[in-house]
Amino acid sequence: MLDILRSGPANPARATIPNCPTERAQHLKSFAYFCDADMAGICQLPAHALRDVALENPGIGPLVQRLRTEQTKSLAAGIDQTMADLRDQVSAPAAPITNHSHALVLLYANPRAPEKGEPGYDWIANSARQRACFRSAETAVVLAEYLRVLGFEARAHTGAASDVVMARLAVAAGLVDADLQAPWLGENYGLAVVTTTMQLACDQPLAPMTMQPRFWLHGAGWQLGLAGSAKAGHSADPYAKRPFAMGPHPFETLKRVDHPTTYIDAPNVARVPKRTDMFARAQFGDMGRKLQKGAAGGRYVRKQAPALAQRRALGAFVLLQDGPIATKAQPPHDPAQIAANVKAASYYLGLDAVGLSHCPEWAWYSHDALGQPITPPHDHAISMIVDQGYETMEGASGDDWISVAQSMRAYLRFSILGAVIAAQIRNLGYSARAHTVMDGEVLQPPLLLLSGLGEVSRIGEVILNPFLGPRLKSGVITTDLPLAHDKPIDFGLQAFCEACNKCARECPSGAITAGPKRMFNGYEIWKSDSQKCATYRITTEGGAMCGRCMKTCPWNLEGLFAERPFRWAAMHVPKAAPLLARLDDALGKGGLNDTKKWWWDIALQDNGAYAPASAPVNRRGLQKDLVVTPQQQTMAVYPAPLAPWPWPYPFPMDREAGIKAFESLISADDYRAKSAAGETAHIHRYQVPGTAPVVQLALADVQQMTPKITKYTFTSPDGTALPAWQAGAHLDVVITPEFLRQYSMSGDPANRDIYEIAVLREDAGRGGSKMLQRIFTPGRRVFASRPVNHFPLHEEASHSLLMAGGIGVTPMIAFAHRLHALGRSFQLHYSCASPEDAGFLAELQAQPWAEYVQFHFSSLGQRADLAAILASYQAGAHMYTCGSDRYMQAVMQAARQAGWPEDALHLEYFSVPEQPAQENHPFTLRLLDGREISVSADESAADALERAGIGVDVKCADGICGVCQCTLRAGAVQHRDFVLSQAQRETRIILCCSRAAQPGGVLDITL
Ligand code: SF4
Ligand code: SF4
Ligand code: FES
Repeated sequence: MLDILRSGPANPARATIPNCPTERAQHLKSFAYFCDADMAGICQLPAHALRDVALENPGIGPLVQRLRTEQTKSLAAGIDQTMADLRDQVSAPAAPITNHSHALVLLYANPRAPEKGEPGYDWIANSARQRACFRSAETAVVLAEYLRVLGFEARAHTGAASDVVMARLAVAAGLVDADLQAPWLGENYGLAVVTTTMQLACDQPLAPMTMQPRFWLHGAGWQLGLAGSAKAGHSADPYAKRPFAMGPHPFETLKRVDHPTTYIDAPNVARVPKRTDMFARAQFGDMGRKLQKGAAGGRYVRKQAPALAQRRALGAFVLLQDGPIATKAQPPHDPAQIAANVKAASYYLGLDAVGLSHCPEWAWYSHDALGQPITPPHDHAISMIVDQGYETMEGASGDDWISVAQSMRAYLRFSILGAVIAAQIRNLGYSARAHTVMDGEVLQPPLLLLSGLGEVSRIGEVILNPFLGPRLKSGVITTDLPLAHDKPIDFGLQAFCEACNKCARECPSGAITAGPKRMFNGYEIWKSDSQKCATYRITTEGGAMCGRCMKTCPWNLEGLFAERPFRWAAMHVPKAAPLLARLDDALGKGGLNDTKKWWWDIALQDNGAYAPASAPVNRRGLQKDLVVTPQQQTMAVYPAPLAPWPWPYPFPMDREAGIKAFESLISADDYRAKSAAGETAHIHRYQVPGTAPVVQLALADVQQMTPKITKYTFTSPDGTALPAWQAGAHLDVVITPEFLRQYSMSGDPANRDIYEIAVLREDAGRGGSKMLQRIFTPGRRVFASRPVNHFPLHEEASHSLLMAGGIGVTPMIAFAHRLHALGRSFQLHYSCASPEDAGFLAELQAQPWAEYVQFHFSSLGQRADLAAILASYQAGAHMYTCGSDRYMQAVMQAARQAGWPEDALHLEYFSVPEQPAQENHPFTLRLLDGREISVSADESAADALERAGIGVDVKCADGICGVCQCTLRAGAVQHRDFVLSQAQRETRIILCCSRAAQPGGVLDITL
């Protein structure tokens, strides 16, 4: 997979970055070290370093095909855009690299060779080359993508696919001497290279190893780390004296317990759908427009260039989370031996901590990303931890511009290594699936607890590890491979977090509770306000995402507990916790270390380039004087009874209900007492709210009718009849979670086998139609609402005049089918700029009612004479029009002039008409209960209600669909919608766009 991603088109918009080649070189090397390269060097790319024939990875063909055609089942933000980008990337022909001028060479050290007889030997012996190949490839692919994101050409070269002679470049870049010996490592390493057009300062070649100073190469200088390097001889290899299966951290020194240190009411844990994920909810607009905008296309990740480079690969690896299972070669192995093999292989590959546990049913989500119930297929879990990177976190504030890349780096590492371990298990003939941040069906925190990788911390859903603190990301493999399990651990964290609330104090959004643990969905937890946290992470302007709680926690290894005695005291002397927490603060641990800041504070701009962000960077030290108490906090939580439905369709969040739910949370003791008394009301249970608002459709055919208009034909996935619909109806199509768009149905309502829509690509629109045309390929499964009709046909009309402008012909076709079936009189006038721009041309000409269709093409001098067409109104006739605003206004004007009564005229907007700029003034909404909600000049009434915790369904946000309307009791309104009739406007208001007519006006509404 990594070899597929090694090349691609460069961003046409060049980033604004320093010009200095030295600064650029240091920046790229730092990024490489952030990705755990052991050495990085830079040289020019001489012609003699190019291979005569490129080395191609022979295994990529089937994967390329899968990337081109497969649809992921994920709610990860921006996954559709990522997959579409990847499709374009793998489809673009690879250009020669003769114009690349520089090479960044990456060297990865091999671990020591596994010893015969040590656990895992059978799995990992003789695999050093492959390990080095994909570990170095991960970094090379990410860096090449990063350079392309910045607007430079770049390609990665790996041990399996390369256009260059890597060893020659390693010599030139000063990583190895002419005999290919690397300092400190000899020949025990692997290489990868990135070639690029970016001008970079070069390193000098190395003198032979025999001429290097022994003191620094092998002597005391190296052994004791006297040069101040991150690595020293005495600690460079954590496995020098340990089997791989034990991992780099001394887990064997920890106290193991039979049950986690926080209470889990296992029989009553509420299983909730994947749809509850806050980032998924943001995309669907459940938390309002601002968050939806921040989450659209994964913007909160894409806005930072290194994170985008990581995210693309992360998306591609979704395809490798699962796969075919080999035939079982051997009978089941000894579970203890298998467990040791799994750990040895995982640690050998580079994971930081691994724990094994049962995977109880309650650790699985109730419904998957498509809303299908999940029947747990596996009962064992392999939980894995990846360190988010100590050095970089030391230089960061936790919520500045590197924060999101720290997360993505760790997520990507698990996606790759977890995919390898899962594939190894499948090769043994057992089922195994990796659950990644992009697509997972288990809740990871309880599995981390059960497998002894950490304890519940004040940070809420973050499980804190005694050796890494909270600075980690996790992933899980579930399997039916029999495994011996680990036990939970107790390292005294509960007492410590009771005495410390540094994370609550430092959290910029106030999401972390300063109060006690409470029961939530059957778990005892310091329940944080995930809505506040997600809101901050998605919308912050001075950085990208946030992990400040992890950064500032004393258990983060840069904090107090980097020192062993303090860590020992924290684990073994609970009473020392308050003192240690204060000491950590007094020593300024968790503050900023500017020496370690290597990244650029650049952000994605509207033109697609990365350039310095306009908002001040979130970069600050500790807020030691701040005191946060539970009384100052207003928190909202959404336990199972408030969870959304499982389907991929908007479900507005009710913050008022969330606040009440937080206030109703009870302690574990009270919970147990109530349960013992036979009460059940305190137990959080999930019930699917309502029936599915969406149906799943299979995209059977895609027909490009004009350069801009494409017709899509859907069928039912199981071949049954589709829900009935009426002429004039539309579908709300879930293009991606953030793009829900209405399209008129254009087929024959009598045909229950198919639904048809046609989509005009609006290049200057908000992106929905462009995305649809990019990702809707035959075979795709699509969710859409059941047909909704706001444009009904008056079937009893004496005559029906169907006036279509451009794409507005779609509902008219359905009308024509129906009127023809009823034997009613009608005429369809279809106006278009030219035949080349007209969709449905051949289809209309082939209909049995073709004689009632008249075409008007301006390019052929056939512009419709509206006055003539509408001249003769006859009693009982109805006229329908759909098209551009200008066209419909002209039609309506002609009809009115000809004396058509208002109730015979019907129009439907398919896009927002051009509007003159209007000034917004603040005003007030008065609710039924007397509450007054202020609406500021830069928000809509719907936004203000959302802010106040009153959910309003918003679909188009443009005043077209009518979904957000409510009853108006009093007040003068400036109606800005395109959906209400004049009569309706007397008593109704559209909340997404209409406002009070006067500055400071008050509107009484029935909410
Ligand atoms: S809880 Fe969320 S917003 Fe608060 S510090 Fe942690 S990541 Fe940041
Ligand atoms: S900062 Fe303090 S309270 Fe928060 S998780 Fe770390 S130790 Fe616990
Ligand atoms: S959300 Fe469509 S009219 Fe307001």
